[in-house]
Amino acid sequence: MSDKYTAYELQSFDYKSIAKTERTIPKPQGHQVLIRVKAVSLNFRELLVARGHYSKAIKTPLVPCSDGAGEIVAVGENTKKFKVGDRVMPNFMPDWHGGPPTLDGARTALGAFVDGMLQQYVVMDEASLVYIPEHLSYQEAATLPCAAVTAWNALFEKGDLQPGQTVLVQGTGGVSIFALQFAKMAGATVIATSSSDDKLARLKDMGADHLINYKTTEKWDAEVLKVTNGQGVDLVIEVGGSGTLEKSTNAVKFGGIICVIGVLSGAGGGVSPINLIMRSIDMKGIFVGSRTMFEAMNRAITNHKMRPVIDKTFEADQIIAALQHLESGAHFGKIVVNL
Ligand SMILES: NC(=O)c1ccc[n+]([C@@H]2O[C@H](COP(=O)([O-])OP(=O)(O)OC[C@H]3O[C@@H](n4cnc5c(N)ncnc54)[C@H](OP(=O)(O)O)[C@@H]3O)[C@@H](O)[C@H]2O)c1
Repeated sequence: MSDKYTAYELQSFDYKSIAKTERTIPKPQGHQVLIRVKAVSLNFRELLVARGHYSKAIKTPLVPCSDGAGEIVAVGENTKKFKVGDRVMPNFMPDWHGGPPTLDGARTALGAFVDGMLQQYVVMDEASLVYIPEHLSYQEAATLPCAAVTAWNALFEKGDLQPGQTVLVQGTGGVSIFALQFAKMAGATVIATSSSDDKLARLKDMGADHLINYKTTEKWDAEVLKVTNGQGVDLVIEVGGSGTLEKSTNAVKFGGIICVIGVLSGAGGGVSPINLIMRSIDMKGIFVGSRTMFEAMNRAITNHKMRPVIDKTFEADQIIAALQHLESGAHFGKIVVNL
């Protein structure tokens, strides 16, 4: 059997530069395991990384993608928890196991500061891994590490969501669809926005309680106040960035929480401090989550037999077409790539 495998590398800051390369299969040492990666999923972050907009610290060539799922095919001599044949996913930040976030943990984020998952084999420390819930395929599992853990952290860790509260989710990308699914599982009321009436109909089928087309209802913040009897929502899952943040400060209730996650409509611009001060709004920055959060989320996913929403699956050689599909914004939920 050949000791070579296929990895995909971003050669320069343009996703069209992603090229197939050959690497030598590494041997796991000590507490490490060797994973045969079966599927990865794409996040908006892949576009930010490929455009050189994610961090100045990123260097090319780089194997992109934070999210992947696979099977353990070899183990180091000191592994205790995992064995050959186990189905696993690495945490987005392999060194953030639990507790509060740290800069050292953040600097291990896959597919940015270190090589990511768009390759057939990776070696990982077993402390960075979680088991795949039994009812999920590799493709479904590959959607979880970034978008789902981020939604989980925003709702239940930093957002402290309680049953009966009201949450606003924006658009129909990966983070927002997971936030809708988890919020409904937890007994919350969900207000969901989209630029497309067809997508709003799908959100309704998934249990969203109030739907707003943010293209045709430009003042969607006023609409949120209307459907909440002038009160506003308890929690905003804020993924829009500069184009939505100000309106989110209008749509949240007095003393409510905005979990600041994304920059889909831009990263610039300012937010007036007046609303934050006078309405006592709590704005919290979210950076994905720890392995401990990932494990807690997987228990809930298992208990509810929850299934991620996959929009479309591509083969690895179609990675550029897959990223074009992500960039178009036509998707609903997650885009997966088989390896
Ligand atoms: N902080 C973190 O840890 C973290 C983790 C994950 C993601 N993120 C960030 O969160 C954001 C979402 O990531 P993702 O991977 O879920 O994105 P995604 O799947 O690419 O989301 C795309 C969708 O977002 C919606 N959208 C675009 N502009 C919008 C706007 N102005 N208002 C409302 N919705 C809008 C559109 O939905 P419709 O077609 O329905 O309009 C679009 O289809 C990105 O900025 C990403 O970088 C941050």
